[in-house]
Amino acid sequence: MSDSSDSKKKRPGRKRATSHASAAKAVSIEPAGIEPPPKVLPYSDIDVSRWRDYEHVETGSLWMFNGRDRQNGHQLDYHGNCVPQILTQLLTRYTKQGEISLDLFLGSGTSAIEAVNLGRKAIGVELKPEMAAYVREKLEEQDKAEHVAIINGDSSNADWTGRAIKRALKGFEKDHADFLFLHPPYADIIRFSDSENDLSNAATTEGFLDMFENVCQLGFDMLAPGRFAGLVIGDKYAAGELIPLGFLCMERMNQVGFKTKSIIVKNISGNEKAKGRMSNLWRYRALVGGFYIFKHEYVFLFQKPKRSKR
Ligand SMILES: C[S@@+](CC[C@H](N)C(=O)[O-])C[C@H]1O[C@@H](n2cnc3c(N)ncnc32)[C@H](O)[C@@H]1O
Repeated sequence: MSDSSDSKKKRPGRKRATSHASAAKAVSIEPAGIEPPPKVLPYSDIDVSRWRDYEHVETGSLWMFNGRDRQNGHQLDYHGNCVPQILTQLLTRYTKQGEISLDLFLGSGTSAIEAVNLGRKAIGVELKPEMAAYVREKLEEQDKAEHVAIINGDSSNADWTGRAIKRALKGFEKDHADFLFLHPPYADIIRFSDSENDLSNAATTEGFLDMFENVCQLGFDMLAPGRFAGLVIGDKYAAGELIPLGFLCMERMNQVGFKTKSIIVKNISGNEKAKGRMSNLWRYRALVGGFYIFKHEYVFLFQKPKRSKR
């Protein structure tokens, strides 16, 4: 009968079910001491044929870091800087040695320092001239400056900053960055400067999101197709209401063409400077106000499609 003979035909790409006994037999005929050939992904140096060796690399969506990494040039020298472990994880999974990480909110340079620690290169854009100068100096002292290009500019200004990034990429003999990192102000929670171009000075949440979307567009255009972007952000409360900044920013990333790959929840231990009396006060306020105190922020992970118009 034709239907049964058709169903017996070997279908391409489909493996026949193997019993446990035959699977065990297949393993036993592997010559002892011969390792499987390396299997490396196009965007990472992780050899997935040895996946058991990468226990230090996160694959779960809950990141619990025990304080802040303060080694290899990292320090808590800027109110609002992120823990370096986020970059260790993201750069290890989504870049190769020698590749370029682009950060459009450089701050105190955490992403650039970690990029160089891991044998990558970095381009960072920061609005505050004194901060850009401070990071340059810090990188010089750490002997890392030759691997990093720092641009003092406004990341929501695609024309000027886009041209500056293109020049920096050319200096590294590249057309596009290999990874994009975004750690914007969490709206007005910390005011970083008096500049009207500073995202933390946007008058409304909508205004902040519009400025952020301009930065997303610049990041999208500068990133190589198929490559990844990480966004670190937390939510905020205003007038007794939770403003879900994280999800609102995710939507703006999607708006410019990024596909969301993962939403990671990360503890914020290691971010706080003052503990003790302040945390007791917040506990009291939370109990009275009927809300919960933020103990987490997000690391959103996106991919730029391999085929995109821009
Ligand atoms: C949350 S901090 C980034 C901290 C950084 N990840 C670190 O570890 O130090 C945000 C930074 O974005 C900068 N910023 C705000 N608006 C900007 C803009 N339009 N263009 C470039 N940088 C901007 C602020 O000055 C601040 O340093």
